[in-house]
Amino acid sequence: MSINVKQLAAEKAVEYVQDGMKVGLGTGSTAYWAIRKLGERVSEGLKITAVATSQASEDQARELGIPLVAFGDIDSLDLTIDGADELDSKLQLIKGGGGALLREKIVASNSTRMIVVADESKSVATLGKFPLPVEIVPFAREWTVAELATLGCEPVLRKNGDELYKTDNGNYIADCHFVAIDSASDLALKLQGIPGVVEHGLFIGIADLAIIGKNDGSIEII
Ligand code: 5RP
Repeated sequence: MSINVKQLAAEKAVEYVQDGMKVGLGTGSTAYWAIRKLGERVSEGLKITAVATSQASEDQARELGIPLVAFGDIDSLDLTIDGADELDSKLQLIKGGGGALLREKIVASNSTRMIVVADESKSVATLGKFPLPVEIVPFAREWTVAELATLGCEPVLRKNGDELYKTDNGNYIADCHFVAIDSASDLALKLQGIPGVVEHGLFIGIADLAIIGKNDGSIEII
């Protein structure tokens, strides 16, 4: 039987959750396993409250009986567990493959600690092979996409079938193909300077720990 490395990493991260914590629930196929394990621990008596970063994670948590609160109803969170599309040795991340980067960044930035959970394929020397998701406002989409292209990438508006993909916030995603990002912090500043950009998927200085599930069944902690 092959090992589910996403589950391995996610379940390890859930060991960091303690009674009374306010927990941010990430989005995606790795965060799914963390939410599942949390649900199990809640059914065994763990007392937490949680904030979800997407409708999908909210639905899963609700089904599992994890007590949920709205982000606006709390001051801060203790711990967020979330996946990543890429991470480097400095714990810089690309996120947003699942389209939830805006809420994910808000929740993680308001958490005392963010633990990234991933399989080893996500660990890279240089970010950028995975197209960087950038959430943009529909009003200015053509102009914003043209501005993004001036940064040296090929932006492609994400689709859902024949329609443009809409985030939980009603915005679009431009997936920006860079190939390699030399300086994630420089690029983040440039992206923040484009008015139609709502948020981008570079997470710099946000993650505190990464738990990486390896194909040989071991776990690497960065
Ligand atoms: C969603 C995300 C996800 O965390 C990221 O796409 C990784 O997903 P998965 O664990 O399914 O590979 O950023 O917006």
